[in-house]
Amino acid sequence: MKFFLDTANLDEIRQAAALGLADGVTTNPTLISKEGKVDFKEHIAEICKIVSGPVSAETTTNDRDEMLKQGREYVKIAPNVVVKCPLTLEGLEATRILNDEGIKVNVTLCFSSAQAVCAAKAGASFISPFLGRLDDIGDNGLRLLEEIIEIYDNYEWKTEVLAASLRHPIHVIEAARMGADIATMPFKVFQQLLKHPLTDKGQETFLADWKKTSAAKA
Ligand code: E4P
Repeated sequence: MKFFLDTANLDEIRQAAALGLADGVTTNPTLISKEGKVDFKEHIAEICKIVSGPVSAETTTNDRDEMLKQGREYVKIAPNVVVKCPLTLEGLEATRILNDEGIKVNVTLCFSSAQAVCAAKAGASFISPFLGRLDDIGDNGLRLLEEIIEIYDNYEWKTEVLAASLRHPIHVIEAARMGADIATMPFKVFQQLLKHPLTDKGQETFLADWKKTSAAKA
């Protein structure tokens, strides 16, 4: 499973990239807005310098032709830019046209299997089911992910399943168990994946015991 970072923060992306664990990045307008007054295209260009894998840049309109215009501009930023389109009628029309032009599209804001099937048939390179947001309304994000993977496994569609809106390591691990192609996660979840209190405690004990040995005193 590939790990993507769901952030527009350059420091966070640099830290994950230094560990070799950032296979890609997903951004959205909310994440970009958290970075203050940045120039969108320049910011995406900076991210693409850090990460060689896919970097999603989201279109910011409901209008199909405007999405096409934005998407065609975004892919000029760097070769690894992927255009994000919403799972709307207009978004899927734009996905079909951009895909025909050889532009990769990440179809975002997916909340049902029916939507995921439509996105695959429209030529999406990635489908992003939002697990956490479904959980937030008392639904079951992991169940949706499982269903999408099961359906996609029946066909030869090229669309990769990108588990999104992940809130905690259990989302990531369950997504891996189900065989999701990608998990995109906030930096906090990424850090939580590495952590275990018994690792910290064990390392502390090992170092303290080592100090007591003659080998350490020599
Ligand atoms: C995915 O591409 C989205 O940016 C993201 O996962 C949304 O997550 P949220 O529900 O935590 O905002």
